[in-house]
Amino acid sequence: MKVYDLINYLCYPDCRGDLIQRSENLLCVKCNREYKVYNDICVELLPSKMFFRVGKNEVEIRAIDSYKKIFGEPFIWKDNPSLWGLDIPEKYVNKFKKHKHVLYKLIPEKIKMSIDVSAGSGRFSYSLIDRANIMVFCDLSVDSCVYLSQKIEKEGVKNALVVRCDYLSIPFKDKIFDLVLCNDTLIYGYEHEIKLISSIYKILSPDGIAILDFANKYHHLFLGFWHKPYTVGYSKKEMENMLRKIGFSNMEALPLYYDLAKDLDEQSILSRIIKIILPPTRYIWKVEK
Ligand SMILES: C[S@@+](CC[C@H](N)C(=O)[O-])C[C@H]1O[C@@H](n2cnc3c(N)ncnc32)[C@H](O)[C@@H]1O
Ligand SMILES: [Zn+2]
Repeated sequence: MKVYDLINYLCYPDCRGDLIQRSENLLCVKCNREYKVYNDICVELLPSKMFFRVGKNEVEIRAIDSYKKIFGEPFIWKDNPSLWGLDIPEKYVNKFKKHKHVLYKLIPEKIKMSIDVSAGSGRFSYSLIDRANIMVFCDLSVDSCVYLSQKIEKEGVKNALVVRCDYLSIPFKDKIFDLVLCNDTLIYGYEHEIKLISSIYKILSPDGIAILDFANKYHHLFLGFWHKPYTVGYSKKEMENMLRKIGFSNMEALPLYYDLAKDLDEQSILSRIIKIILPPTRYIWKVEK
């Protein structure tokens, strides 16, 4: 599969114009801008401008600085991309397994069109290649896009593509994906979250599902520390309100307890007791339009 096979689903994020192929690249029929395709399987479709938002606190300001930095990176096809989530630290291995275990409880066995809007290393979504007819990995980070493209090429995967894009200005037509995944990314501040959830809503097909997660603010309040002090957490009600505000319904949320990482299905008596006392680390939501 090549980027050109996806052309009817793509659009230029600024003008929402259709794209056509011009030699190996893509061209917007409305504004005539050209977008580079790399090795037939990766396309860069950034908007002309960054999404403007003002940080209201230190965490948000840091997130905006990081956004500006990755947005401004030139696309270089590098040999050793270095990216977020590639190496899983020893002490996080069980938590990661647990996170994936709970996440996959919500994912159907077979999917037609699937997308991970902030794929990172693909550590949660790469295996969707086996469940989906078409799997699209997106990220703003050049290193993520290069890493995933190289992996797809090396493994001879035939049904996956990579799009370097900004999910705050998403370059896909409306209502095309049956599954939209967004993991560990609704963590950068309310305005960011609302804009990202709107993008997810737009590209989700009417009978599709979106799977997304938030960090639980009561987890760190309860424990007095936070495993990631540079992210924003919400109460379950606040998460639900954001999703409803954008239009999602039919919501189901699974609690994810990193503290019970070793007990995958939380069957032990101790796990059951701890769950009564301890707030979950995160909530993973399955939502529909
Ligand atoms: C915390 S990581 C999570 C990655 C992956 N979902 C996971 O759980 O392993 C957030 C990812 O979002 C990407 N990202 C940040 N801002 C973005 C934007 N505006 N558009 C697309 N991707 C973005 C980052 O490059 C990073 O890979
Ligand atoms: Zn255009």
